[in-house]
Amino acid sequence: MQTYKIAVIPGDGTGPEVINEGLKVLAAAAKKYNFTYTSKMFDFGGARYLKTGKTLDVEDIKELKDYSAIYLGAIGHPEVKPGILETGVLLKLRFSLDQYINLRPIKLYNPAFCPLKDKKAEDIDFVVVRENSEGLYKGMGEFKDKGAKDEVAIQLSYNTRKGVERCIRYAFEYTRKRNKKKKLTLCGKTNVLTFAWDLWQRTFDEVAREYPDISTDYAHVDATTMWFVKNPEWFDVIVTDNMFGDIITDLGAMIQGGMGIAAGGNINPEGVSMFEPIGGSAPKYTGKNVINPLAAICAAGMMLENLGEEKAGKAIEDAVIKVVTTKLKSLAAGKMGYSTTEVGDLVVDNLS
Ligand code: IPM
Ligand code: MN
Repeated sequence: MQTYKIAVIPGDGTGPEVINEGLKVLAAAAKKYNFTYTSKMFDFGGARYLKTGKTLDVEDIKELKDYSAIYLGAIGHPEVKPGILETGVLLKLRFSLDQYINLRPIKLYNPAFCPLKDKKAEDIDFVVVRENSEGLYKGMGEFKDKGAKDEVAIQLSYNTRKGVERCIRYAFEYTRKRNKKKKLTLCGKTNVLTFAWDLWQRTFDEVAREYPDISTDYAHVDATTMWFVKNPEWFDVIVTDNMFGDIITDLGAMIQGGMGIAAGGNINPEGVSMFEPIGGSAPKYTGKNVINPLAAICAAGMMLENLGEEKAGKAIEDAVIKVVTTKLKSLAAGKMGYSTTEVGDLVVDNLS
């Protein structure tokens, strides 16, 4: 029997509530699918920062490298200035564990929860492969004459051939393995960002030659947002940089039914990966037992799939689909017709 070591970071706000439901489902899946795991809780996040001034130390990272996977709730605290926890915890985890892929499936489970008119479930079913270690997120730049009238703030997009190529290769492999439309779209801005996107486009075209079975396409990022609304059925897999991937996956989350259902994986194919709901810590809903735990539950499903427990991962997704199509009134916090803990129970009950 396989045993996994899961590092759990519930984090801030509603993070602990949704993680609890995810762990409930994980325990049920382990029993049904015959694997075991141990888990350890880590208290990284806003509360710990306010108490100790610490975000993440090198020792913390070292310890995490010893786990099979990381399961994360949410990072973000209303009493901490924006930027500190995001860069000090979330981005630090992604960067120091070299989780260079952010994999974000956009799948509509129940058309009733789609804000777009006349879209069927099969019309919205694609995956965004977001580069997760470079670009504007690298944190490179500077102020010139900060605070002065002629102040300049520079923020650089850092793109390496190696970083771009490993992401594009992952996307081609993923498109092949997914085996649906077998179409990979590069989403960029070659018409304006003529350095970064020249490198992306050249690398994409070169790698594409090794994948004659995959059809390729290109869309500017602004046009991509238009197609998400107008013709989402055109997409199969999209590969893009860190910043564009961040933006288009929030729109993607909305067309699949909202932040309550959108999950993602920060993947290091050769190392430790981390799975999380893509929404934030939702402070205003904290402790009310109203937040939707399905995104966190789907993240647990992705984690199992990534660990090699594909059947268990698929079973979780199927149970979520059942709950979303037959039980919930809405996917929004406080409007589901059930509490957070009840939704977790419903998924467990529907796990087959
Ligand atoms: C996300 C979030 C993060 C990001 C923030 C919280 C740093 O928006 O996971 O998409 O920008 O990557
Ligand atoms: Mn985001």
